[in-house]
Amino acid sequence: MQKILVTGGCGYIGSHTLVDLIEHGFEVISVDNHLRSRAKQLDGVEKITGKKIKNYAVDLCNWDAVENIFKEEKNIDGIIHFAALKSVPESVAEPLLYYHNNIASLVNILKATAQFGVKEFVFSSSCSVYGNADELPVTEATPLKYAESPYGFSKQIGERMIKDFAAVHADINFILLRYFNPVGAHESAIIGEVPYDRPNNLVPIITQSAIGKMQQLTVFGGDYDTRDGSCVRDYIHVSDVAHAHTCAMKYLLNDAPKKNVDVFNLGSGNGVTVLEAINAFEKVSGTKLNYKVGERRDGDVIAVYANIDKVKSILQWQPQRNIEQMMLSAWNWEKQMATK
Ligand code: UD1
Repeated sequence: MQKILVTGGCGYIGSHTLVDLIEHGFEVISVDNHLRSRAKQLDGVEKITGKKIKNYAVDLCNWDAVENIFKEEKNIDGIIHFAALKSVPESVAEPLLYYHNNIASLVNILKATAQFGVKEFVFSSSCSVYGNADELPVTEATPLKYAESPYGFSKQIGERMIKDFAAVHADINFILLRYFNPVGAHESAIIGEVPYDRPNNLVPIITQSAIGKMQQLTVFGGDYDTRDGSCVRDYIHVSDVAHAHTCAMKYLLNDAPKKNVDVFNLGSGNGVTVLEAINAFEKVSGTKLNYKVGERRDGDVIAVYANIDKVKSILQWQPQRNIEQMMLSAWNWEKQMATK
C-alpha cells in the first residue's frame, strides 16, 4: 500500500482528501496541530472510512518536530501539503502571521522531502495567485498579477519556492493545484467546513444565516459589470477537489515521464454570480434567505473562473457535482452541526 503524508489533514479540504485517498487504496498519515481545525474532524474521517488514522499534532514551523515525524514514518511515497492559514481578511490584518506560518512550514516540509527521499509532492495553491487577471477564463498560462492579499502573496511565494527548489532537485516531482472556490461537504454530512471564529466565505455565511446563526446576508456589490451586477466565482465541490488530489498523486506515482513541476487549475469551469449561488441555495433548501445587496467589499476581484481543460486531459479528472449539489451538501452539513 502506498503511504501518503497529508499535512492539514484535519482541515476542510485535507479531511475530505483523506477520505478520498483511503477509498482509493492509499495508506494515510496526517499532520495537523489544530491551529485552525478540530481534532473531531478526524473522527468523522474514521467513521466514514472505517480506518484508524494517525495524526501528528505538530507545528510544521518547528524543524525538529518535522524531522522526528520523518524519522518515525519510514517509506513515505508522497506528500500532500495543505497545512496553511487561508483567511484573506485575517491575512490583511496580520500579514506576518501569514508569511511566517505559510512560508516557514513550506521550507521545512520541502527540506524534509529532500532529506528523507520523498519523490512526489502536491501543493495547495489558490486562484488568488492570478490577482485581477486580464483574461477569462484563466488558464494555467495566464500571467500572475499583483496578489491582492498577503494570503494570495504567500501562495505566489510558495509556488516560486517550489519551482526554485525543484530546479535543484530534478528527482522530485511537484504538482501545484490552484483551487478556485471549494464549497459544500461530504455527502454523508459527517465532515464539512468548520469556520474558525466567524465565517467570511460566502457559502458558510449563507448556511449560517439560513439556520439563524447569523442575522443577515449582504451581497457585496450589485453594480459590477456582470450579468446580474454581483461578483462571479468558480465554485467547486470539496469532494471533487479532494478527488483531484488522488488523481494528482496517482499521476505522480506512475512511471511515465512527466514535468518536474506542473500546475493545474481546479475549478468547475463555470462562473456563478453571488445572486445565482443564493438562488441555488434557496431552491435546494426550500428556505428563503434574508439578504440585501450592499456595498462592494474591499479587495474583491470582480470575476474569476477557470479553464479546466488541462486538469481534465492530464490528470483525467473532472468535476462531478453542480452548484445545487454543492449547496445541498453544505446545507445538510449545517443542519447536522446544529443538532450537536
Ligand atoms: C477568496 C480567495 C480564495 C481563497 C478564499 C479563502 C481571491 C480571488 N479568492 O475567495 O483564493 O481560497 O478567499 O478564504 O482572493 N460574498 C458576499 N457576501 C458575503 C461573503 C462573500 O457577497 O457575506 C461574495 C464575495 O464578494 C465574492 C463571493 O461571495 O464575490 C465569494 O466570496 P468568498 O467566499 O469570501 O471567497 P473569495 O473572496 O472569492
